Amino acid sequence: SNPSLLILPGDGIGPEVMAEVRRIIDWFGARRGLTFDVSEDLVGGAAYDRHGTPLHDDTMARAQAVDAVLLGAVGGPRYDGLDFSVKPERGLLRLRKEMDLFANLRPAQCFDALADFSSLKREVVAGLDIMIVRELTSGIYFGEPRGIFEEGGERVGINTQRYTEREIDRVARAAFDLARKRGGRVCSMEKANVMESGILWREVVQAVRDADYTDIELSHMYADAGAMQLCRWPKQFDVILTDNLFGDLLSDAAAMLTGSLGMLPSASLGAPMANGRPKALYEPVHGSAPDIAGQGKANPIACILSFAMALRYSFDEGAEADRLEAAVEQVLAEGLRTPDLLGEDGRGPVSTRGMADAILVALDAS
Ligand code: NAI
Ligand code: MG
Repeated sequence: SNPSLLILPGDGIGPEVMAEVRRIIDWFGARRGLTFDVSEDLVGGAAYDRHGTPLHDDTMARAQAVDAVLLGAVGGPRYDGLDFSVKPERGLLRLRKEMDLFANLRPAQCFDALADFSSLKREVVAGLDIMIVRELTSGIYFGEPRGIFEEGGERVGINTQRYTEREIDRVARAAFDLARKRGGRVCSMEKANVMESGILWREVVQAVRDADYTDIELSHMYADAGAMQLCRWPKQFDVILTDNLFGDLLSDAAAMLTGSLGMLPSASLGAPMANGRPKALYEPVHGSAPDIAGQGKANPIACILSFAMALRYSFDEGAEADRLEAAVEQVLAEGLRTPDLLGEDGRGPVSTRGMADAILVALDAS
C-alpha cells in the first residue's frame, strides 16, 4: 500500500504554503510514481473554529496512524484572547506530546545563491548542510525538583538537569539512523567536564554506537567549544547530537547561519512504529505570519523543504529528496525571490504561487 501522509495546514500562511506543497506532492505521484495516501485535517485556530478545540480527538488518532504528519503553522491575533487550554499552540503541543516526539531535527542548510544573507562570510556558509538533533522531551526543562523556594531567608530558583540512560539511548539511535541517510558522521555535544548528566550522556552515546552503529563515525565535543566551532567552520559537521538545553541554543544559532525564516524546515521524530519508520511530524520553523497572510507573499520553501525531509527520513526516498532540493537550489540560482528574500540581486519579487510554479518547472526539467 502507499505511504500515508496527514496534512494539517493550520492558520495564517499555513494553508497558503501547504497548497503549494500539495502540488509538489502531486507532481511526485504523477511524474515519479511516488504516490502517497494524503489526507487533510484541521489544527490550531482552524480546528477551534470548527470544533471548539485546537486538535480534535479524531485528528489526533489519524496523526498516530499515518506514516508522517506535515504541518503548516498555527496561531494568529484572532485567537490571542482565547483561554490557555484551547489556544492554537495547544494543538501542536498535544501532537508532539502524544506522539512522544523526543528528537527534534533542525537542519542548517545554505543554498549558494543565498550565502550573502548570512551574517558570516560566504565561504564559511555556502553549501553548508548540517543537521542538529536536539533531545526534546527531557532534560533541564522538565527535571524535578524545579521551582522557586525559600532557603535561609532568601529565594532560590531551581531547575534540574536529568537524563535517564533510556532517554539518551533512544535519541542517540535517532541521530545514528539519520546519519546513515546522510554523511555517516555524528558529533555529540555535552559538558562532561562539569556535569554528571554529561558524563552519562557521553558514555551511553558511545555504547550505542559501539554496539549497533559501528559504521558511524562518532566524535564528542564540549558544547561550548561546539558553539565556537559552529561559528568558525560549520562545514566540519554532519549530524550534531545534543540535549534539550544545548540544542535549543545551538539550533537557533545554526539557523541564523543560513538566513531567512522562510527557508527553514524542521522535523520531530519519535519511536519506530511497527513498520520500522519513526513517528514523525514535519513543519516549517516559521509561524503563521499574520502580517503577510492572505497576500500571496509567503515563501513556500520552508514547507517544501519540510516535505523533502519527510521524503528522506520517513520514506527512504533520499534521491527524490535530493531532486526536490536541487529544484529549489536552481530557482534560487536563477534569482527568483519571494519578498522575504529580496536582496539587490533578486529578479523578484515572485508570489507564493510563482515560486512553486518555478520549482515545478525545475522539477519537470530534472
Ligand atoms: P512568524 O514566524 O509567524 O513571523 C515572523 C516574521 O517572519 C514575520 O514578519 C513574518 O512575516 C515572517 N515570515 C514568517 N514565515 C515566513 C514565510 N514563510 N515567508 C515570508 N515571511 C515569513 O512568527 P510570529 O510573528 O512571532 O508569530 C505569528 C503567529 O504564529 C503567532 O500566533 C505565533 O504564536 C505563531 N507561531 C506558530 C508557530 C508554529 O506553528 N510552529 C511557530 C512560531 C509562531
Ligand atoms: Mg529556541
